[in-house]
Amino acid sequence: MKLHNPYFPALCSTFLHIILLFTVTLLCLQPATSTTLTNETDRLALLKFKESIVDDPYGILSSWNDSIQFCNWYGVTCGRCHQRITALELQGHNSLGGEIPASLANCTKLRVMTIAWNKLIGTIPRELGSLSKLLYFRVATNNLTGGIPPFLGNLSFLKKNFGIL
Ligand SMILES: *[C@@H]1O[C@H](CO)[C@@H](O)[C@H](O)[C@H]1NC(C)=O
Ligand SMILES: *[C@@H]1O[C@H](CO)[C@@H](O)[C@H](O)[C@H]1NC(C)=O
Ligand SMILES: *[C@@H]1O[C@H](CO)[C@@H](O)[C@H](O)[C@H]1NC(C)=O
Ligand SMILES: *[C@@H]1O[C@H](CO)[C@@H](O)[C@H](O)[C@H]1NC(C)=O
Ligand SMILES: *[C@@H]1O[C@H](CO)[C@@H](O)[C@H](O)[C@H]1NC(C)=O
Repeated sequence: MKLHNPYFPALCSTFLHIILLFTVTLLCLQPATSTTLTNETDRLALLKFKESIVDDPYGILSSWNDSIQFCNWYGVTCGRCHQRITALELQGHNSLGGEIPASLANCTKLRVMTIAWNKLIGTIPRELGSLSKLLYFRVATNNLTGGIPPFLGNLSFLKKNFGIL
C-alpha cells in the first residue's frame, strides 16, 4: 500500500483552507440575512442619538461625523464581520444632555450600552426592550424618569445596573 502520496499534504491543506474560508464566509454572511437592519441602519440610529443630545460641553460626539467611519466614532465598537455596533460606551462625566432616542432599538447587535453619569433626561424608550443581545446596560446617575422599566427585565441575560434613576 502506498502511504506517501506526495500530493496528500498539499491537497489536505487546500481542502482545509476551503473549509476555513467557507466557515468564515458563513459566519460573516449569517447576520446580514436576518432583517433589513444593516450597518447603515446603525449609522442612522447613532446620528439620531447625536441629534437628540442637545448638550455636549466637552465635544464628546464631535468625532461622530461623516469623515470618520461610524465604527471609529468615540465610544462606538463594531463587530469585525458584520461591521455593526456591538457597544456604545459613553459612560463617565461627559455631561451629555438630551434624550435617549428609540432609534437605538435598531442597533440589534448591541451587547453593551453604558451611558451612566451623564445628564440624560426623559424615559428609557420602551423600544429598547427588543435589544435581545444586550448583556450590560448602565444608565445610573442621569436625570431619567419613569423608574426601572419592567420590559427591560425581559432581555435575556441582562445585568441591570440602574442605581438611582
Ligand atoms: C457597511 O458594510 C459594508 C460591507 O461590509 C461596507 O462596504 C460599507 O462601507 C459599510 N458602511 C458603513 C456606513 O460603514
Ligand atoms: C470629524 O472628527 C474628527 C475627529 O474628532 C475631526 O478631526 C474632524 O475635523 C471632524 N470633521 C468634521 C467635518 O467635522
Ligand atoms: C429602524 O430603521 C428603519 C429603517 O431605516 C426605520 O424605518 C425605523 O424608523 C427605525 N426604527 C426606529 C425605532 O428608529
Ligand atoms: C437634574 O435635574 C435637576 C432639576 O431639573 C437639576 O437641578 C440637576 O442638576 C439635574 N442633574 C443632572 C445630572 O442633570
Ligand atoms: C418577553 O418577550 C417575549 C418575546 O419578545 C414576549 O412574548 C413576552 O410576552 C415577554 N414577557 C414579558 C413578561 O414581558
